[in-house]
Amino acid sequence: MFEDVTAPPARIVSPHRPRRTRRTAALRTFVRETTLSVADLIHPLFIVDGMGVHKPIETMPGHSQLSVDQLAKEIIECTALGVRSILLFGIPTQKDMTGTGAWDANGPVPRAIREIKRLAPDMLIIADVCLCEYTAHGHCGVVRDESGGVINDETIPLLGRSAVCYAEAGADIVAPSAMMDGQVAAIRDALDDAGFLDTPILSYAAKHASAFYGPFRGAAESTPSFGDRRAYQMDPANAREAMREVQLDVEEGADMLMVKPAGSALDIIYQVRTNFPHLLVAYQVSGEYAMLKAAAERGWLDEPRAALESLLAIRRAGADRIITYYVKEAARWLSTAG
Ligand code: PBG
Repeated sequence: MFEDVTAPPARIVSPHRPRRTRRTAALRTFVRETTLSVADLIHPLFIVDGMGVHKPIETMPGHSQLSVDQLAKEIIECTALGVRSILLFGIPTQKDMTGTGAWDANGPVPRAIREIKRLAPDMLIIADVCLCEYTAHGHCGVVRDESGGVINDETIPLLGRSAVCYAEAGADIVAPSAMMDGQVAAIRDALDDAGFLDTPILSYAAKHASAFYGPFRGAAESTPSFGDRRAYQMDPANAREAMREVQLDVEEGADMLMVKPAGSALDIIYQVRTNFPHLLVAYQVSGEYAMLKAAAERGWLDEPRAALESLLAIRRAGADRIITYYVKEAARWLSTAG
């Protein structure tokens, strides 16, 4: 007749309470699946000819073109922050039709490699292998006329020469980014012939023709003077084609793989991770950095949180290592993060 007030309440909610593991910071740390460490981040540097050059790159706040004599300060700072790997791009003063500066032993990259090895012998140095910074027209390979496009088979031996030049200077890894067919095989052959059997290749295996490279092209002075890169870089619409590109690079002897860009290709990162056992690097490119910076500058985003979250998402998608322009800032934020 009366309600039995002593009876236990009927179970009105599910016994599944995922919030249990979010209650305290200690629990949240305990159940965290993906971690971010400065040791996983690769720091890009833009090296120019000359002396005393430290020229800020307008579209990439916090980054500058540096001449080799300016490297000491940068490398000491990186070492103190726990940065372990660096990616080098060279911007020569002289550019020509075939990009001969790309295999000049006294070009900015070989000189920077020797200097960094002298300053910090344990710093891992990755040399980007491409012709776009070295050609007068800004394309990633040999071009005979504006209508003919980049000539694949004349370009790949030049990429091979460049890779050997960087290996001779002491690069630990070479990273071809030109998106020429057969470039990994050509570079492997050239390295082996020159005695660099143990120099690994990190292949930019799946690289989209992305609008997000815009700020980099200003930094590297490599904007094509005519046309665009869509006849060699991949259509951002394609993911299965990305798997084919990766498969071919693996067959050609790539030791490690890269997906680029990162934030707009998380599905590709995930698929490469699932289908290939190789170490996987993702490139959070200049446009991704510029977007975060611009929003943060206006106070529209909490920069440390947004930047670290974007890096974490790239790791969660499956990237082992990340090339990002946030390395030094991330190192600082990670060391103070709770
Ligand atoms: C090509 C190369 C590019 C980037 C890295 N290697 C530019 C391009 O393909 O046009 C872009 C990196 C970035 O945007 O941060 N050598």
